[in-house]
Amino acid sequence: MAVKRVLTGMRTTGQLHLGHYVGALKLWKEIQDRREYECFFLLADVQALTTHADNPSLIKESITDVVLDWLSVGLDPDLEKVYFVLQSGIPARFELSQYLMMLATYMEVRRNPTVKAELKTIRSPSMGFMTYPVDQVADIEMISPEPGNRNEILVPVGEDQAPHLEYARRLTRRFNETYGKVLVPCRAEIGEIGRLVGTDGSDKMSKSKGNAIYLADSTNDVTQKIMKMYTDPKRIRATDPGTVEDNPLFIYFDAFAQNEAEVEEYKRQYRAGKVGDVVLKKRLAVVINEMLDPIRERRKKFNKELAVEVIRYGTRATNVVADETLDRVKSAMGLFS
Ligand code: TRP
Repeated sequence: MAVKRVLTGMRTTGQLHLGHYVGALKLWKEIQDRREYECFFLLADVQALTTHADNPSLIKESITDVVLDWLSVGLDPDLEKVYFVLQSGIPARFELSQYLMMLATYMEVRRNPTVKAELKTIRSPSMGFMTYPVDQVADIEMISPEPGNRNEILVPVGEDQAPHLEYARRLTRRFNETYGKVLVPCRAEIGEIGRLVGTDGSDKMSKSKGNAIYLADSTNDVTQKIMKMYTDPKRIRATDPGTVEDNPLFIYFDAFAQNEAEVEEYKRQYRAGKVGDVVLKKRLAVVINEMLDPIRERRKKFNKELAVEVIRYGTRATNVVADETLDRVKSAMGLFS
């Protein structure tokens, strides 16, 4: 029987918002519910340190916050072969990372477009930051089954992660060319919506910009944020013809409304100056709150103690798999194992 595994993850740097939901979580849950794959969902706390090493309380808080968000959207470690894995809790992963680094070159990491973009915002990048793309390959390959037998690793992620996954495939192939068939190269599945605009209209929802709607926000918070959100700046009165394209109001309607015909009708009216921003914002708040209600309902069943238990269980199970992979890797490299 083919061993089919999913590994994907998120950095634990704060509560999750609608951008995480449409960009990643929705797809993760869909894949989980297909029940074709063993699912390893990684809490990337080590990678969080690449940018937040000076903030231990944030790191600590975020780990359980992210677990509670994941549980609330329906990722479910009660299902067979679904694991929430703490990155810092897998010793074999650090080792694998160090070994992969011997085949990775500094220049290829420097050329990675995601790294390039991030470097523009970081003043003095740490060694930990510079090596994170290789570390991420270790995240993925630590759960590698043996090649062959149609075994596979699937990695569902948002568009911004595409260069990392291409790199993971390259480095894994290089490893296999050097040491024989030891690791299964991963396959990426890129989500439909790569990133979601913020409520301020800037191109990405993020905590640092204060333009995020969180999965844990109350009905009231969501309504208030929507009522204040950025729409078409050129439109002053409800009777002015409005622009639909690139308007966050409609980007959100498209992302969250169930009823496409309803949204098309709003677009028509908006273009014709027949409906006001306020009316549409009120409706959008209802749409988003309806989407969040089941998530809120599920959240009531969980607490921090349970989150910790879930992490312990998933991390223990993953250690068993990662230790096996590491044994194969070490003996292929001529190391005692
Ligand atoms: N880099 C990813 C992010 O910033 C998180 C991540 C860490 C990840 N390790 C991974 C994603 C392995 C997929 C596979 O969101």
